[in-house]
Amino acid sequence: MIFPPRFWRYFALFWITVGGLLGMAIGLDNHRDLFETQAPANLASTSTATAAGQSDNVLIEQGHQLLRLGNCMSCHTERGQAAGSGGRAFETPFGKVYSSNITPDSQHGLGTWNANDFWRALHHGKSKDGRLLTPVFPYQHTTLITREDSDAMFDALKTWTPASNDKPIDKPSKTLTWPYGTPVAIAVWRSLFFTPGVYQINSQKSPEWNRGAYLAQGLGHCAACHSERNEWGAIQSVNDFSGGRMPVINWYAPSLTSLKETGLSQQTAQDIAQLLQSGKNDQASTIGPMAEVVQHSTQHWRDNDLLAVATYLKDLAQQASPSAVTTTATKPADTRASAGLSPSAKVLSLGTKIYDDHCAQCHRSQGQGVPGAYPALAQNRAVLLNDPTNLVQSVLYGGYPVVTAHNPRPFGMPPYILTLDDREIAAVLTHLRSQWGNQAAEVTPLQVNRIRSLQGP
Ligand code: HEC
Ligand code: HEC
Ligand code: HEC
Repeated sequence: MIFPPRFWRYFALFWITVGGLLGMAIGLDNHRDLFETQAPANLASTSTATAAGQSDNVLIEQGHQLLRLGNCMSCHTERGQAAGSGGRAFETPFGKVYSSNITPDSQHGLGTWNANDFWRALHHGKSKDGRLLTPVFPYQHTTLITREDSDAMFDALKTWTPASNDKPIDKPSKTLTWPYGTPVAIAVWRSLFFTPGVYQINSQKSPEWNRGAYLAQGLGHCAACHSERNEWGAIQSVNDFSGGRMPVINWYAPSLTSLKETGLSQQTAQDIAQLLQSGKNDQASTIGPMAEVVQHSTQHWRDNDLLAVATYLKDLAQQASPSAVTTTATKPADTRASAGLSPSAKVLSLGTKIYDDHCAQCHRSQGQGVPGAYPALAQNRAVLLNDPTNLVQSVLYGGYPVVTAHNPRPFGMPPYILTLDDREIAAVLTHLRSQWGNQAAEVTPLQVNRIRSLQGP
């Protein structure tokens, strides 16, 4: 069929109009801050309520505490460089992004910024010069922060010593693979996955629950790891904690609502708070990236904030698995053996030998561990996760002990990357997953190999 030239003119006009409107919509969407007349309402918090007449020192200390709640320093400090001077590299599937200098240095940092610029960065994900920031800066979460808390953090940052990184810090437009670092790509991403907005109080719930939700979804950005990222690197939502694989560095952050994976519904709020404060409790110990979170952030949280987050997460976990509260540890029938998935006798005997030679000295012959020193591997949820990634990481690279005020002399675990080969690590992990009442799928040498060949933590 031949169309008259007029058709093509209308056809082209149509698409130009659609493209233009879409471009305008994306443009407007990304510049909402220009139309913002006043800062949104404050969230009355249970622990950082600022009463009129409080001295500046108190407010500044609150700002420092908020920076700890947000774990800002850990991302904004490169090892060996001045605190807050930026330049820490974040590997993403789309290339690298370097964190910025957030010290009050006028040339490289926030020295020329005012409280509005700072608020705009946290709330709208925009730099002072209008550059759209990449979401490696977790502004899907920081957007929930109240203006009051943002101002307190800014005042605290201003008291820091200005400093700069030895090396210049490249912008994402240089370090991300083309086209991901272009303003257009970032604008489109933001239109699809980012909506600025402060935390909305749920009036059905207690102030403590709301404080917990505000911290877990906002400053604490727990879902940045505990939610699965889609192919565009976006999380489901700030209140999705259903578990996620961390791309590139390759760890699995388990579901905080699943009975099987973390079992928070069955722990008391005090137990959960203890894990976040000291890096371990009777049921679990934090390892890898979570140990870092405890080290730099949650160990410094105040008790009422820890309990608030624990209360909130426990409630979500109970809603997700209502039967969880009453379930006793009834063991399911061994379906694994009947499905023919039992590891071979050869693998099991190799696993037993490696365990006795290398692991039993600390984790003990029955996997019972040593209370206060070495975690039990028997009936340990972290050992039973479907995804064996974290186990392989622990054995390859060893345990990073979290030194916390409540656990000042932690015991470490040596790395086995040079001592054990893929087959041996697979066998010993398979052993852990099939002994002492543990029941989880076999770990294969191929799975170990895949993780070994990726870069380490
Ligand atoms: C997961 C790591 C991470 C965390 C946590 C984090 N940031 Fe960042 N932040 C970054 C990265 C990476 C950038 C640079 C993004 C870019 O250049 O597109 C950034 C950018 C910024 C900027 C913009 C600076 C500029 O020059 O435009 C500010 C301000 C900032 N962060 C403040 C904070 C504060 C305050 C917190 C704590 C509440 C925080 N960040 C937590 C990684 C992080
Ligand atoms: C940088 C990524 C990251 C962030 C941010 C993060 N987690 Fe985790 N988390 C992990 C990983 C990875 C694990 C699995 C390793 C482990 O068990 O310690 C984990 C494990 C956990 C566990 C289970 C520990 C166990 O062994 O049973 C809890 C509970 C937890 N996180 C709570 C939180 C809370 C609450 C927050 C927010 C305040 C948070 N996490 C923020 C990565 C993260
Ligand atoms: C020197 C004592 C020591 C030896 C030997 C040792 N471990 Fe560990 N292991 C630890 C400590 C301490 C931790 C906790 C580390 C932490 O909290 O970061 C740990 C943690 C673990 C974890 C994570 C548990 C959890 O709850 O997240 C696993 C799995 C594990 N070890 C397996 C092994 C295996 C398999 C071997 C032998 C190949 C082994 N360990 C040898 C001390 C040891």
